Amino acid sequence: MTESKDKNYGYIAGISGSLITVKGLENEIRLNDLIKVTNHNIIGQVIQIYSDYIIAQCFENTNNLKLREKVESLFEPLSMELAPGLLSNIFDGIQRPLKAAFEDIESEGFLERGLTLKSLSQTNKWHLVPKRNLNEKVSGGDIIGTVQETPLIEHRIMVPLGITGELTYIAEEGEYTIQDEIYRVKQDNIEKSFNMIQRWPITKNRPYIKRMIPKEPLITGIRVIDLLFPVAKGGTVAVPGGFGSGKTVTQQSLAKWSNADVIVYIGCGERGNEIADVLKQFSEIIDPKSGRPLLERIVLIANTSNMPVSARGASIFSGVTIAEYYRDMGYDVAVLADSTSRYAESLREISGLLEEMPAEEGYPAYLPSRLSNFYERAGIVKTFGNDTSSNVKIGSLTIIGSVSPPSGDFSEPVTSTTRRFVQAFWALDANLAYSKHYPAINWLDSYSNYPEYISDWWFEQDINWPEINIDWEECREQINEILSKENDLKNVVQLIGEENLPEDQQLILFIARLIREGFLIQNAFDNIDNFTDVKKLLGQAKIILLLYKLGKDLLKNGFIVEDIKDLEVVNNILRISQSIENNEFYKIEKIKDNVLSEIESLKLRLGGVKS
Ligand SMILES: Nc1ncnc2c1ncn2[C@@H]1O[C@H](COP(=O)(O)OP(=O)(O)OP(=O)(O)O)[C@@H](O)[C@H]1O
Ligand SMILES: [Mg+2]
Repeated sequence: MTESKDKNYGYIAGISGSLITVKGLENEIRLNDLIKVTNHNIIGQVIQIYSDYIIAQCFENTNNLKLREKVESLFEPLSMELAPGLLSNIFDGIQRPLKAAFEDIESEGFLERGLTLKSLSQTNKWHLVPKRNLNEKVSGGDIIGTVQETPLIEHRIMVPLGITGELTYIAEEGEYTIQDEIYRVKQDNIEKSFNMIQRWPITKNRPYIKRMIPKEPLITGIRVIDLLFPVAKGGTVAVPGGFGSGKTVTQQSLAKWSNADVIVYIGCGERGNEIADVLKQFSEIIDPKSGRPLLERIVLIANTSNMPVSARGASIFSGVTIAEYYRDMGYDVAVLADSTSRYAESLREISGLLEEMPAEEGYPAYLPSRLSNFYERAGIVKTFGNDTSSNVKIGSLTIIGSVSPPSGDFSEPVTSTTRRFVQAFWALDANLAYSKHYPAINWLDSYSNYPEYISDWWFEQDINWPEINIDWEECREQINEILSKENDLKNVVQLIGEENLPEDQQLILFIARLIREGFLIQNAFDNIDNFTDVKKLLGQAKIILLLYKLGKDLLKNGFIVEDIKDLEVVNNILRISQSIENNEFYKIEKIKDNVLSEIESLKLRLGGVKS
């Protein structure tokens, strides 16, 4: 007894910033295990082990800690408590609930140091509906029963991974806390009892059976993304952008409108009031489909303003772990991390304290491997276990991380390293933001590798207008081509002026302007423009391309660009974004008909074909 107790305790032998050196624990402890400074209740994580001491990073500030203070080993790595009660909740990086702290204006998300709080309510009762029968054989990942966690999301209680056996007890339908026993499994003649809680270490990817090829887009409702730089469900995206270029607004729009089932929003090292704001906004915004507050499908992770940098790494990986858990239930989950640069900076700071040999710009040499550990947890997968009807479960985890390069320089290490691990890149451009072109996604610097995977899906959604018989993929190609021609013409225009260009080139410039102003620009704060659905998006893009197609014919027949610019319908095209709701597609069709009829009457008015 005494012997094992001795092994549990060590003492502080050095303090440097958020790092402490501890003697006495080195023989038993493993890397990433948690320790606790006993008297202050401060939790830390082991990051280095030597023959006669260990180094741990503390998740709270180390002010007034003293040498020789007692430190105990908790013998487990930082793990997430996974059970009903995660959704519409807000946690810090070590999963302490912050809701009360953020709702109380005075505390501004500030938790008293050393406060121990249970992550999830242990007393709240959930209505369990069992889905398996006694004596049935079950194995890891199988859904045992369900709980309506929020009106938007059903929580599927899964057998923990690694467990296989016969169900020897299953609770009746009824009210249970997450701690109550709800089933027992007999494995190798040993009966094990389970409640709703699973614990999972944050640094360990939750396993799956196999990765699938992405086929469906994550619809974001942001036109420039969904058409030009789409992301597939299970994909990875970086959103780099300098100060004030719109990273947070983009991430928040995604949290509000993207068609993921569950969102994990990680506010990593960003301002405390930003998180309070997110919490407020998400509770107020109602999901148009269900009429319920959007917060009911969101888990928020935030560092409190008083937490040291070491908590940032924890928050990124804690968020992904929670996301993987919902993915395993068969949901499409999106992790939105704002901003991963703050995490990289925390690595740099800790590496500096450890006096490690720095690589580029002071970042540690392991920056790439850490970033890749984060992004590689995205994917669309066949999960372990079966759903409630014994079918396989497919779940996806999309990761969208913003990056804040100092002075907007994308060649800096965090942006350039992140670029290696993501399949889509939404480059936010300070000049566009400055000229109020929002979202400031630069169409020449951004890219996505997903179009070929999801073009079949889009083909199925097509609005099939016979007058402009092109699908999503061709819309993309044409719009890209017009925008890049506009870019090529930029220098010539500066030299000789737009009006001196040939008519066909002037038409390109005019259509490019329509694309920019009537399609790419989108106001995230406008009640109609904040989200564009698939039909409206295709309608808007096709109307502009129809005008281009007919415009080229007009020019061939002797008309001039001014004739096209003067069409009344041009203004209506520019106003579609903010004046026509998603469910008023007939109004978009009407504008398309107006394009046709106005061009017809133009031809008639000017005596058919101009000479
Ligand atoms: N899509 C958008 N629609 C309308 N306005 C926008 C949009 N995107 C950004 N803005 C404007 O730009 C401002 C700054 O955006 P945001 O806070 O998202 O920038 P950021 O990149 O997160 O900045 P920081 O580097 O300071 O975190 C917003 O307050 C808003 O006024
Ligand atoms: Mg921001």
